[in-house]
Amino acid sequence: MPFAHITGWGMAVPDKLITNADLEKIIDTNDKWIVERTGIKERHIAYDGQTTSSLAVEAAWKALAVAKVKPAEIDLIICSTSTPEYMFPATACLIQDRIGATKAGAFDLSAACTGFIYALNMASQAIRSGSLKVVLVVGAETLSRFVDWTDRNTCILFGDGAGALVLKADETPGGVISSVLHSDGSGADLLSIPAGCSKNPATEATIRAGLHYIQMDGREVFRFATRVMAQATREVLSSAGISIDDIKWIIPHQANLRIIEAAARGLKLPLEKFVINLDRYGNTSTASIPIAICEAIKDGRLQKGDKFVLVGFGAGLTWGASVAQWTGVLETEQMIRPTYFRLFARTRSFLRRLWLRIEGIVWGRKNS
Ligand code: UT7
Repeated sequence: MPFAHITGWGMAVPDKLITNADLEKIIDTNDKWIVERTGIKERHIAYDGQTTSSLAVEAAWKALAVAKVKPAEIDLIICSTSTPEYMFPATACLIQDRIGATKAGAFDLSAACTGFIYALNMASQAIRSGSLKVVLVVGAETLSRFVDWTDRNTCILFGDGAGALVLKADETPGGVISSVLHSDGSGADLLSIPAGCSKNPATEATIRAGLHYIQMDGREVFRFATRVMAQATREVLSSAGISIDDIKWIIPHQANLRIIEAAARGLKLPLEKFVINLDRYGNTSTASIPIAICEAIKDGRLQKGDKFVLVGFGAGLTWGASVAQWTGVLETEQMIRPTYFRLFARTRSFLRRLWLRIEGIVWGRKNS
């Protein structure tokens, strides 16, 4: 049975920053409160024209270059997001087109901030079953587009960004070992965007009431999060038969420093065992875990052979954890030229669109 290795990784965040001092100018808040209650100092915010797929594509190109994998080798693209570009088509299909992943299937996965753990589990199971060889897993968000910038309960928390991993089949032991996934829809109304979908389609009234923005019962979500983070970590380790002493890093969803501290207390681990970067990015929802993985690899914290746990929670309610062993980039003789692939993808996309138009005209005439 092949193992599902993490052989490529990449992240992308917008250059534009909103600091706590910037927020002080638009809402009744202050840096001291935000840092003490959340640990967040700044967040990256997409500028006009930057979208969930453009961030995802930037992260994906980086991950493919690290993995030395050609876009045409990808079997499946899973884009985990709560801020897709459209209700449909899936953002994953936009990514497929932009990177020229000629043979890939593509779909979006909606499990809010736990989405990346769900996506990683789906991808690794497909690889371990032998049905797929290369899967691109992306977590991407532009939450700033769904934040009410007059609501101090939510707007201080969220940021934009994307992270991508390339998972590849290999016979060497390692990679994603085990995952646990949970949900409890009875808490659905604790964190939601109530309007804009089929139950409450966008109307003048829903927009006037701000129902197209994120609504959150912060205290209840906080209580739920502190309960499930340690629980899910213990559960995934037990399912994999791995002791917590063998875990080098816990990479948690970055929502609130106090939630991570509670998880550390629950697991009787020092906070130093946790990869934390929410001070610089805020809560980027499903992108927060892959962004933290990228940073932990870049700064050398995550070393070849290290076992680590990913653990998250979010709207749904959903929560879950994965345990993995990082074995570095899988050896390959393959040379790849990123500039060539970008040019190929752009030209291919243009020609495909043109061809669809021509086909439409020709068939339209024939059938009329
Ligand atoms: O990915 C999942 C996404 N969601 C989460 O993870 C959210 C989890 N929840 C939280 O992180 C926290 O509940 C918050 C950060 C949202 C809020 O922190 P809290 O310690 O739970 O604050 P609170 O809601 O209990 O409010 C305490 C006080 C209130 O004032 P009063 O009623 O005690 O006078 C709030 O009005 O703090 C006030 N407050 C603020 N003050 C300054 C709330 N937001 C702010 C603010 N600046 N931005």
